[in-house]
Amino acid sequence: MGGHPIIRTQDLTKRYGGHEAVRSLNLEVYEGEIFGFLGPNGAGKTTTLLMLLGLTVPTTGTVEVCGFDPVREARDVKQVVGYLPENVGFYGDLDAVQSLAYIAALNGKPHADATRTIPGLLEQVGLADAARKKVGFFSRGMRQRLGIAEVLLKEPKVLLLDEPTLGLDPDGAARLIGLIESLNRDRNMTVLLSSHNLQQVQRISHRVGIMIEGGMVAEGPIDTLAEQTFGLGGSRYSLEEIYLEYFQEG
Ligand SMILES: Nc1ncnc2c1ncn2[C@@H]1O[C@H](COP(=O)(O)OP(=O)(O)O)[C@@H](O)[C@H]1O
Ligand SMILES: [Mg+2]
Repeated sequence: MGGHPIIRTQDLTKRYGGHEAVRSLNLEVYEGEIFGFLGPNGAGKTTTLLMLLGLTVPTTGTVEVCGFDPVREARDVKQVVGYLPENVGFYGDLDAVQSLAYIAALNGKPHADATRTIPGLLEQVGLADAARKKVGFFSRGMRQRLGIAEVLLKEPKVLLLDEPTLGLDPDGAARLIGLIESLNRDRNMTVLLSSHNLQQVQRISHRVGIMIEGGMVAEGPIDTLAEQTFGLGGSRYSLEEIYLEYFQEG
């Protein structure tokens, strides 16, 4: 890890009509880190992720992801960035293997390559036993894990995950978080993780950012934020306590 930002935004702003969904955001995510992206509903997290992907055009400001500008080089960005949206869509009639083969074909991957890689991917996300089960019968947690397998088909350098554990039971959430952690540790994937699951974010994130009403109100390693918020010796405070403190101020 260290000094090299793989994601960088400068004064990034998105306005919808008169409403500023994202306001002058200066975000840096370093290569090899897990960055926890926190904030209440409506804070601007999804809008930020969409701008990093080139799926939403910024009103002003600049974005750089893996050295590319998502506005002008959206295709390059999509090659190196994997994105798990809040709701992953699959065809319920296809089984897990067929779903991944379909996505691989859509992305122009040779059929033989896909056939070789899919079983390993399903194994990796803990779905080997469900390989031939129709996705329509999957639990939400299983669908999220299949979504990660889909993202991994292209071996991305960066993973953008939008509230991946939302609506999962504790066991499903813990398994998904464990998977994200292992992708970071074993494959050095950089992860930008938007989540409300503060305990899990605290467990796996190297740094976090808290966004409120479009602006980043705090950013850094959790112990540093704790000391900034609660003073010297503040590192015994949890991320949840730090997070709530910003709402009392606001
Ligand atoms: N396409 C859109 N058109 C108009 N307003 C939008 C659009 N997308 C998001 N917003 C508004 O921008 C703000 C930030 O939304 P969003 O990025 O989805 O927040 P979060 O993901 O943190 O919950 C909200 O007030 C939301 O209503
Ligand atoms: Mg959102």
